[in-house]
Amino acid sequence: MKSIKLSASILAANFMQMGNEVDAAINGGADWIHVDVMDGVFVPNITLGIPFVEGVKKISSAPLDVHLMIVQPERHVAAFIEAGAEILTVHCENNPNIHSILTEIQRLGAKPAVALNPGTPAEMVEPLLPFVDMVLVMTVNPGFGGQKFISHTLKKIRTIRNWIDEARLKVDIQVDGGINEETIRLCSEAGANIFVAGTSIFRNPVGYGRAVRSLREAAKSAAR
Ligand code: DX5
Ligand code: ZN
Repeated sequence: MKSIKLSASILAANFMQMGNEVDAAINGGADWIHVDVMDGVFVPNITLGIPFVEGVKKISSAPLDVHLMIVQPERHVAAFIEAGAEILTVHCENNPNIHSILTEIQRLGAKPAVALNPGTPAEMVEPLLPFVDMVLVMTVNPGFGGQKFISHTLKKIRTIRNWIDEARLKVDIQVDGGINEETIRLCSEAGANIFVAGTSIFRNPVGYGRAVRSLREAAKSAAR
């Protein structure tokens, strides 16, 4: 079975308590910390940048999974890796140099990943599969936490999982947006194995530990 990982998206955490929030998510069992970087151009929202990643790196014992939703990511990948990004994800949309950016990320010592929005066809990432550690299939339109899962994206997860398996590649499929106990099952069944969760961890009344455990159990029980 593919290894299942939960990446806690701190966009849904309490920003005034970030140190405690990161600790609590890791103590609760989260495997990675997911950092959403938005520039107000690639997506409508503005969030966090390089100094923030540097700060979280100092306190996090878990790998930082940094999701860049910015234009011209090639201008910033080196700085994000230096700041502590272990997994660095760039979008394939409007990005004619995506292949060279991904190989550059690898050369700089981080794990390259490519993301695609709900409106982007799976074919956009097929030529990139041999050059990435992970494909991020967005299950909402990027920009904000707390949105509703778009179930049509499941078909795309299945298609990409089949390509990866047919080519005998070792590439993870990550999903991001609207992941809860119910949608995580659907994504896991479709072939995803890394799950970003913001609202369903940080805003879950049952507490982070129980939230992470139930998500993991749900993903495991549906894994193919
Ligand atoms: C959306 C971000 C997500 C977001 C997920 O653009 O990429 O990582 O924080 O939040 P939830 O889990 O609340 O949908
Ligand atoms: Zn994200």
